[in-house]
Amino acid sequence: MTQDELKVLVGRAALDHVVPGSVVGVGTGSTVNCFIDALATMKDRIAGAVSSSVKSTERLQAAGIPVLDSNTVERIPVYIDGADEIDHAGFMIKGGGAALTREKIVADLAERFVCIADESKLVQVLGRFPLPVEVIPMAAAQITRRFKALGGEAQLRAGVITDNGNQILDVRGLQISDPLGMEAEVNQWPGVVTVGLFGRHKAKVCLLGTAQGVRRIDF
Ligand code: A5P
Repeated sequence: MTQDELKVLVGRAALDHVVPGSVVGVGTGSTVNCFIDALATMKDRIAGAVSSSVKSTERLQAAGIPVLDSNTVERIPVYIDGADEIDHAGFMIKGGGAALTREKIVADLAERFVCIADESKLVQVLGRFPLPVEVIPMAAAQITRRFKALGGEAQLRAGVITDNGNQILDVRGLQISDPLGMEAEVNQWPGVVTVGLFGRHKAKVCLLGTAQGVRRIDF
């Protein structure tokens, strides 16, 4: 199966985790696009969606799925999103699509994070995929220096402004063996809006697309 076929497979499999009658949290990315397409088939059985990006909002609305303002929703049972990397404990690197801040906000509303990914995303140690960090532009140089002190090379993502009007730094060269510790550390640096490490908001379940079918991993 191709990578795209695996994405379709896990996008469909995620429907089993949608709680009928409830609001669904929806992430961002090509795998989530497959999920949105599948979700359209049960749009009359959900109360709507909370979206993590302008792109996902547009796709949801085009599919006839109502998108609710996150401030009007107190709790959602499930948040479904992809990942750039996921390790064997359910910790993730996210933000390849620059939507990490809103993704973390919606994940925070959810009881369960269900990660959908093809098997190329499963890693032993996080960090081969450059770690995205959303930053306030005036802090970018100082945050770059702070990462250098940790052994990371941060680079501004050229031509990208997030949905929140900020910049993204992509940090290469990190071997993230303590995701919770690094997330807590980077979160304290002035000018960091969100670090794309999902430690406190890790996945509870991963639906991994493999050549043998969908493999479910519980964390
Ligand atoms: C978006 O900002 C990311 O966190 C995505 O979840 C991630 O990039 C996965 O995208 P794909 O499903 O396109 O690989």
